[in-house]
Order: sequence, then C-alpha cells, then structure tokens
Amino acid sequence: MERVNITSDLTFSRIVYGMWRVGDDADTSPSHVRAKIDACLEQGITTIDQADIYGGYTAEAILGACLKENKGLRDQLEIVTKCDIVAPAGRYSNARVKYYDTSAAHIAKSVEYSLTEMGVDRIDLLLIHRPDPFMNHHETGRALDDAVKSGKVRAIGVSNFKPWDWTLLQSAMETKLVTNQIEISLTAHHALTNGDVAFLQERGLHAMAWSPLGGGDLMRSTGEPRATLSRMAMAAGVDEAAVAIAWLMAHPSGILPVMGTNTISRIEDFSNAFKVPMDREAWFELYTQALGHEVA
Ligand SMILES: NC(=O)c1ccc[n+]([C@@H]2O[C@H](COP(=O)([O-])OP(=O)(O)OC[C@H]3O[C@@H](n4cnc5c(N)ncnc54)[C@H](OP(=O)(O)O)[C@@H]3O)[C@@H](O)[C@H]2O)c1
Repeated sequence: MERVNITSDLTFSRIVYGMWRVGDDADTSPSHVRAKIDACLEQGITTIDQADIYGGYTAEAILGACLKENKGLRDQLEIVTKCDIVAPAGRYSNARVKYYDTSAAHIAKSVEYSLTEMGVDRIDLLLIHRPDPFMNHHETGRALDDAVKSGKVRAIGVSNFKPWDWTLLQSAMETKLVTNQIEISLTAHHALTNGDVAFLQERGLHAMAWSPLGGGDLMRSTGEPRATLSRMAMAAGVDEAAVAIAWLMAHPSGILPVMGTNTISRIEDFSNAFKVPMDREAWFELYTQALGHEVA
C-alpha cells in the first residue's frame, strides 16, 4: 500500500478506514472490530478515522474496547480523531442546542476524552471537525499548539474548512495544519473546482475525502455514471466502488479516500482501486457523467 507523508515523522496509508458507522453495525464486539481492522492491515491500510461525536459519542469507545483487548494493535495504526461538535447526545445530552466549541477548555477536554475512550496515550492527528463561526482563532490556535506540545497529539488538521477558515486558524498557530478532510466523490465533486482542493494542492498537502462513495448513494444510483463505472469495473476485473476510488486517487493532488463500509468483504476489496487504469480521458468520462454534461 502506498504511503503518504503527513509530517516529517508521520505517514498515512493512501486509503483510510473511517469509523463513523461502526456503531451502526449489528456487531460492535471487539472481535468484529478486530476483523475489520485486520482486513485493513492485510492490505497495508493502517490509518483509522474517528471523531468524538461518531455514534453519539460512542464510536471511539467501540474502537477502544478492541484496542484494549488486543495489546500491540494500536502501535500498528495511525489514529485520526476530531472534536468541536457538541450535540445533545451522550456526554453532552444536557446541551440545549447543537453547536461548535473551539474553546481551549473544550479542545483540552475533548483530547482527554478521546484518549480515555480509545485507551491510547496519543492521537496521531486531531482535526477540528467543522469551522466554528464563533471561533477565537488566537485561543483555538494556542490550544491546538498546546495539544501538540503536551505530546498527546502528533499533528493538527481541520475538516470542512474553507480556505479562509484555514488561513485564519493557521495565522494563530505555530504548528502547521496538515490536511483538510472534506467531501469529495463522483456524487460531490465541487471541492475539485471551488478552490478547496486547489488550496491544499498549492501547499503540497493531501485532502482526506470523506464519503468517497457518496455515503453509498453512488453505488445505489442508476444511470450514466453507474453504467460507466460498471463498464470500467468489468474491464479491470474489480467492483464498481474500486473504480470510483481510483477516480479520486488519480487526482494529481493525492487525495486520501476515507472509506466507510461496515461490510468486511468490501473492506477486503479496498485495494482493488489500485488495479484500475485511470488516464485523463477515463477520468473525464466519469467526471462528465457526474456533471451531467460535457465540460464547456
Ligand atoms: N469529516 C466529516 O465531516 C465526515 C463526514 C462524513 C464521513 N466522514 C468520514 O468518512 C468516512 C466514510 O464516510 P461514509 O461511510 O459516508 O463513506 P462511503 O464509503 O462513501 O459510504 C459507505 C456507505 O456506503 C455503503 N455502500 C453501498 N455499497 C457499497 C460498496 N459497493 N462499497 C462500499 N460501501 C458501499 C456502505 O454500506 P455497508 O456498510 O452496508 O457496506 C456504507 O453505508 C466515515 O467513516 C468518517 O470517518 C467524515
């Protein structure tokens, strides 16, 4: 599996496995989570994406139960997690409204919760989950720097940020932001043209693409993109999801797809995406169909 430099001493696998849906699985036992992680590790997929809020603040503990039962497993992984969304659920069930909290106190508390829930002593990458319209960038930037200085967090990034949100936060930080995790897929490709990917590409940074199969919508859709995916999949001897992921990974900026299936056989097939030839014309064939019209 190809690896990508995130910082000078941190690399991620090119394909990342996301655990947003881990609590939706009928089986959340440590052994079943272990089986999913093993299916990733067998392909060299070592980077796991989490967030404090996933599963109503339960997903980190589901992973944690597995890590606690399997000593040494954590050291084979890079763990990404996120904070700043406070929703009336779980530990925040008293919240009167869903909101974002980028205060220093909330960031410090969230880091402690994540470490405890997952039973780890370090988070490899901490992301601010959503841009906070009430952010005091000086306070947030200092809190994120402090998290790195404490040794509890190795690197800092953001998610769903616009370039101006990024530059505001970065202006108040010593630590360099390393990624923006944003929605990119054949069903949501606006980031390729609205400046979000270009902003990272200019800086030599990799976007992390959430919902790379449109949360499954792409695989359930009918019509043109699906027909072309199907034809390319047949030609390459892989499934359609592999073609959709190959399309994302072919982008010159080096996008990291964050996959979300709970189905082990689908996890086992992730690296089929590397078998799909995706030259410029094939890329535009899929893009044209995703747009619904030829490019101007
Ligand atoms: N930063 C953010 O704001 C943000 C937002 C959303 C997600 N994320 C991250 O991105 C990750 C992926 O998101 P996602 O789960 O929406 O990604 P996805 O890979 O686009 O979608 C996964 C969903 O598609 C379904 N699916 C249907 N056909 C499939 C096929 N052939 N292959 C694979 N999956 C198929 C899966 O069902 P089965 O499980 O039944 O296979 C699953 O429900 C999350 O786990 C999370 O880590 C981040």
